[in-house]
Amino acid sequence: MENRIMTSEYLPEDEGDNPLRPKVLSEYIGQNKIKDNLSVFIDAAKLRKEPLDHVLLYGPPGLGKTTLASIIANEMGVNFRITSGPAIERPGDLAAMLTNLEEGDVLFIDEIHRLPRMVEEILYPAMEDFAIDIVNGKGQGATSIHLPLPHFTLIGATTRAGQLSAPLRDRFGVVLRLEMYSPEELACIVTRSSRILHIDCDQEGSLEIAARARGTPRIANRLLKRVRDFAQVMSSGTITLKAARQALDRLEIDELGLDMVDRRMLESMIKYYDGGPVGLDTIAAVIGEEAVTIEDVYEPYLMQLGFLSRTPRGRVVLPAAYSHLGIEYNGQMML
Ligand SMILES: Nc1ncnc2c1ncn2[C@@H]1O[C@H](COP(=O)(O)OP(=O)(O)O)[C@@H](O)[C@H]1O
Ligand SMILES: [Mg+2]
Repeated sequence: MENRIMTSEYLPEDEGDNPLRPKVLSEYIGQNKIKDNLSVFIDAAKLRKEPLDHVLLYGPPGLGKTTLASIIANEMGVNFRITSGPAIERPGDLAAMLTNLEEGDVLFIDEIHRLPRMVEEILYPAMEDFAIDIVNGKGQGATSIHLPLPHFTLIGATTRAGQLSAPLRDRFGVVLRLEMYSPEELACIVTRSSRILHIDCDQEGSLEIAARARGTPRIANRLLKRVRDFAQVMSSGTITLKAARQALDRLEIDELGLDMVDRRMLESMIKYYDGGPVGLDTIAAVIGEEAVTIEDVYEPYLMQLGFLSRTPRGRVVLPAAYSHLGIEYNGQMML
């Protein structure tokens, strides 16, 4: 399962994505509501010559959270410092990072829901009062130093807003939820990427790739590169509708963007559990994936398609999935 193309999770091969990352808001395709609001907040902050309020970005992987954070820093004309929840192990690590910021800088903390508790507690006064208290020593002899910080903007990204503690969530002035992209928006992204990568891809070709990209720019870009390989070897090199279809069929990615793992998951839920309800951990064991990965990476798209629903008693396969898989639905759904 390593090397799964259809995962929206970051893979090392995406490193080469850098040229594909939009640098300014006007190049960022889709998410129009977010862009409109953000540009107002950015303009207002610049007018007041103040740093932007702290921003929380949430939504499934691959939708453009990291990209948006770097665009915000770029539009504000400040440094972009990047770290992640699991990378900051001790309060001292965060304190060092905070004290090294310059006035107005953006500090981006990816996977912010995975910050250790002790670290999170330093973040509260840092976000609210732009100061931290560092305690030296232990017990009665302990002294504490009050350290003022530059006014910075914290941008947090998370796939699971529900897992953030309330005190942390409440300290973000701007909370933005990224939505999955429409096929038309993804086609624009594919067209833009093919221009940057000098790939010859016509309009129908990009729409076909877009339609199978699970609403996710990261997957769209990845599919574009794979389809290019097939087009170069099997046809003229141009990605036409026919070339795209041929390549995607060879990759076993169906018209809706489901791959073998999705189909196997739905089929085994139907075959062995009558379509559910099945517990998440059971599904994880059956398909050999981690429960969190299923929840964050696979399920959002299946739910968006109306193929799967989460109920208090477990996951249930919905009639639309049966019809897509060509399996007769016996109507025994227990919701
Ligand atoms: N709105 C967008 N317009 C164009 N390309 C995008 C957009 N959002 C994401 N991308 C592309 O998708 C890739 C994944 O985005 P990223 O910001 O890393 O997602 P996330 O941080 O949410 O997992 C980026 O490298 C970028 O090339
Ligand atoms: Mg990211």
